[in-house]
Amino acid sequence: MSRLNHPVDSAPSRRQYRASAKTTSWFTSLEGFPVSTATPIPVRSPLPSALSGSTAVLIGGSSGIGLAAAVLLRSVGARVVLVGRDPDRLKAAVSRVRGASPAEDRDDAVLAVAGDGGDEQTLAEACDRAGRVDHVFVTAGGISGAGPLPGLSADDIRTTLDSRLQAAFTAARAAATRLPAGGSLTFSSGILVVRPAPGMSAPLSVVGAVETLTRALAVELAPARLRVNAVRFGRIDTPLLRSAPGLDSDDAIAAAGSTAPLGRFGTAEEAAASALFLMANNYVTGQVITVDGGETLA
Ligand SMILES: NC(=O)c1ccc[n+]([C@@H]2O[C@H](COP(=O)([O-])OP(=O)(O)OC[C@H]3O[C@@H](n4cnc5c(N)ncnc54)[C@H](OP(=O)(O)O)[C@@H]3O)[C@@H](O)[C@H]2O)c1
Repeated sequence: MSRLNHPVDSAPSRRQYRASAKTTSWFTSLEGFPVSTATPIPVRSPLPSALSGSTAVLIGGSSGIGLAAAVLLRSVGARVVLVGRDPDRLKAAVSRVRGASPAEDRDDAVLAVAGDGGDEQTLAEACDRAGRVDHVFVTAGGISGAGPLPGLSADDIRTTLDSRLQAAFTAARAAATRLPAGGSLTFSSGILVVRPAPGMSAPLSVVGAVETLTRALAVELAPARLRVNAVRFGRIDTPLLRSAPGLDSDDAIAAAGSTAPLGRFGTAEEAAASALFLMANNYVTGQVITVDGGETLA
């Protein structure tokens, strides 16, 4: 069934919900969020191909897993808006994503907004330029605030919280007030949350909090028919992983990956495909799915 014939396309936009709230059973019980107790989440094909024609904002879309998600989304005909801080990196990412387009790109098929993903103005600009936003995927953020507990200052801890948890809330607020029924928000996590390493208390607490936020928001936003999930990544071959000591070459990556259960690290595409699954499947919410090649079992 083509997306255009699918029930999700006849679902009212959030603006229409607001307009109809006074005359129908729609009401607002969460400040700013239209809520329905009557209309279920739209049914649509759960295959990634159903994302054709939808629009995703990728916060952290200029590299690694976010960029791979942009390429996959564009290859199935979705529009993407990439958000990242470095304008040159963004520019290179846009031309790579345009290369993945199934047909000649409309001018607005691949957009980019330079700025910090934790900044409300940046996200407002990304959503405004997109027009309609159906899905938000957050991959922004590396590992900050690492170090043994006695050496961590209150400022270090506050900065770490701001960089990831505050940014997750900013993305959630942008998504909750803009996405239509059937929209989704997907966060990133990592397997160190369940297999901690020493000196990682601050970053891992924050990422663990993002997983908790995922479940809390899934419950809170379900009445608005929005879904919230997270992906817990194992070691994925991206510029972030390659920035780790001793992992800056193909040989080093292959050697280190050979000790993993499946004999290698994951690719950015394998990691990103999990986000497309979560965007497309309208019956999954509040879940943290693991893509780690079995590392947490080893
Ligand atoms: N790769 C792994 O092995 C692995 C494992 C576990 C978890 N993860 C998590 O998965 C996510 C994606 O990782 P990755 O490997 O794809 O990383 P990556 O290759 O470093 O890509 C991160 C992207 O986020 C952007 N970014 C970073 N901070 C940002 C900010 N404050 N505002 C806006 N954009 C920001 C970066 O661009 P700019 O720097 O130009 O802003 C870049 O586009 C991260 O949250 C990471 O912690 C990764």
